[in-house]
Amino acid sequence: MSLHHLTFLIILLFITLNLSANSPEAKELFNKAECMSCHESIDFSHKKDKVNSFKKLHTSVEACVINNEVEWFDDETLDVTEYLNKKYYFFKSKE
Ligand code: HEC
Repeated sequence: MSLHHLTFLIILLFITLNLSANSPEAKELFNKAECMSCHESIDFSHKKDKVNSFKKLHTSVEACVINNEVEWFDDETLDVTEYLNKKYYFFKSKE
C-alpha cells in the first residue's frame, strides 16, 4: 500500500468516527443545564425497571426539563434523550 492510500484511509477513518460520535450539541446542552447537580451517572444505569424504554426515557427527560425550568426546544430534549440513550441506556428501538 502506498503512503497516499494510507493517508486517504486515515482521513476516511476520522470522518467516519466523527459522524458516528455523540452529537456534541446534546452533550453541551446536558452539561449546561446542570442535570448532574441532582443526578449521578449511576441514576441513569441502575433503574432499568422504571425507565425501560426509549419513550419512558424521553418522558423522564421532559419531566426534568419542565420541573427545572430548563429552556430546551422539543428537538433539543430529544437530542439529549438520544445522548443519554447512547451513553447509558442503550435502547435499540425508539418506541
Ligand atoms: C432538582 C433535581 C433534578 C434536576 C436538576 C434534574 N433532575 Fe432528573 N430526576 C430528578 C428526580 C427526583 C427524578 C426521579 C428519580 C426517580 O423517580 O427514581 C429524576 C429522574 C430523571 C430521569 C429518569 C432516571 C431513571 O432512569 O430512572 C432522567 C433520564 C432524568 N431525570 C434526566 C434529567 C435531565 C436530562 C436533567 C437536566 C435537564 C435533569 N434530569 C435534571 C431530579 C432532578
